Amino acid sequence: MESDVEKVKARINIADVIGQYVTLKKSGRTYTARCPFHKERTPSFHVSPERGTYKCFGCGEGGDVFSFVQKMDGIDFPTALRQLAEKAGVTLEKGNFKGKSPEEKGKEERLREVCDAAIAYFELELRRRKDVRDYIAARGVHEVTMTHWRLGYAPATWDSLCRHLGQVGFSKDEIFDAGFAIKSDKRPGEIFDRFRGRIIFPIFDVAGAVIGVSGRFYEKVAGQKDDGQEPAKYVNSPETPIFKKSRTLYGLNVARAAIRKADCILLVEGQFDLIMAHQSGLPFAVALSGTALTPEHLTILSRLSKRLVLALDADDAGIRAGLKSALMALVAGFDVKVPVLPHGKDPADVAKENAELLKAAVRTSKTAVEFFLDVLRPQARDEHAYKKLVEAQVVPLVGAFESSIDRDHFAAVVARKLGVSPEAVLTEARKRAPKAEAAPSPEVHEKSGELELSAVDKKAAMVLFGLGAESPEAQKLSELLGREHIQKLRADLEPRAEDLRFMFDAQVHSETTEAAVAADMLGDIARVVERERVKMKFV
Ligand code: CTP
Ligand code: MN
Repeated sequence: MESDVEKVKARINIADVIGQYVTLKKSGRTYTARCPFHKERTPSFHVSPERGTYKCFGCGEGGDVFSFVQKMDGIDFPTALRQLAEKAGVTLEKGNFKGKSPEEKGKEERLREVCDAAIAYFELELRRRKDVRDYIAARGVHEVTMTHWRLGYAPATWDSLCRHLGQVGFSKDEIFDAGFAIKSDKRPGEIFDRFRGRIIFPIFDVAGAVIGVSGRFYEKVAGQKDDGQEPAKYVNSPETPIFKKSRTLYGLNVARAAIRKADCILLVEGQFDLIMAHQSGLPFAVALSGTALTPEHLTILSRLSKRLVLALDADDAGIRAGLKSALMALVAGFDVKVPVLPHGKDPADVAKENAELLKAAVRTSKTAVEFFLDVLRPQARDEHAYKKLVEAQVVPLVGAFESSIDRDHFAAVVARKLGVSPEAVLTEARKRAPKAEAAPSPEVHEKSGELELSAVDKKAAMVLFGLGAESPEAQKLSELLGREHIQKLRADLEPRAEDLRFMFDAQVHSETTEAAVAADMLGDIARVVERERVKMKFV
């Protein structure tokens, strides 16, 4: 029987999927593009719709449509399968997941079901609470925006969600494992609601499925003892098997297409910032939502665009976090800009006042170096203190640029501002250049190893695997190079068969045929063999 995976593969053209991430150029029966997995100027990334595979000869990355979206979107196999199955119109058979054990897979499915049920419950609760909706509206959020982002409300009680989820069939363990409950200290075996009296922002994976939530304080549970502590403004779901904070960006499921289209990412801190940015006509915004920027976030984003606008809260904490984020992003090769917001305001505040104001701020963003030079000035009590502050905080940014032209340019900018020589700035920048290990890509893959073969063997192998060992061309190879040699080549290179087929396919353009390409290669081989023979005669 055809498996789900095969069904999806048969119905989906890999070029259509990959074409949504990179610009593909048709080249005969394959497509080429600049590789989305590593930096390159000339395209060495190939896609073969016939084989349903892709391969980059620059970095060695390769695989099928599933591994492609897994890597691009930073998702696991089941998520990729679900996402592509939906696109292909294939209904998945339950329990058919590769890579994870059936138990793990069953468990994750269950956790997703808990999330779905919890969100449906919270949404309904918000519909009942006009006062909460009024508060959200007073923050500038339109009703359609609330619906679009599936905002909800967790009632201010100890166990209404847990009871509801229990009634619809989820066990205490499942509710706890999905992150919606806390275990009771006083009554072992009992659980109570994690989110109480909070506005709920569901957190989605890139496929749009809910994997966790963030809850903003609204009201205390009635009669709750006051322990003198202010409740946390935000409570977030803990990490769960389906919710990995270092990889999750709030809003990415919606923003992805817009990021590619605008070739720009707007990164904001909070949930309100994000939904207000989208509502204001900045659909390429994503939010960190309670975590610091990680290399994994940058890896995921870098595949969509290399232009990052960091819209920070304009307060001290925001600036400190922003410096760190900017440094990481520059090292990862992003072009980093920062919009200037009125002091003490965050993007949500600005958008609430006037959507055009936020858009204008984004449009007129400063380069990261210029932004931090300006914003640090009032923090220093005198000129020398300012210079030392810049040395510690801004000069590393200069050192983070890969291009020496960029480094020179920004060293000059800093030098002008400080009234020092560009050489002094560059010297310090070199000392303070961030270490390479701060670079992104926990999943940058080792090189596949260039084919360390003679030109003759490489061509022979391409013909051999491109056309198959039974082809007349392969026979001809045996005659030219000897049966034994060809058999050895075949055995040695079997693990690389897919690459070699690709390399062969990549040579077949619209003006040529397989036979013509093979004939060319055979001709080249024959000439070398002839030359060797002639040489032998004369030695
Ligand atoms: N955050 C968090 N835990 C906190 C405070 C903040 O996880 N205790 C996260 C939230 O994702 C929040 C973001 O950091 O949205 C930015 O924090 P802050 O600027 O304080 O939140 P705002 O969304 O601006 O809060 P408010 O509702 O008051 O506007
Ligand atoms: Mn804020």
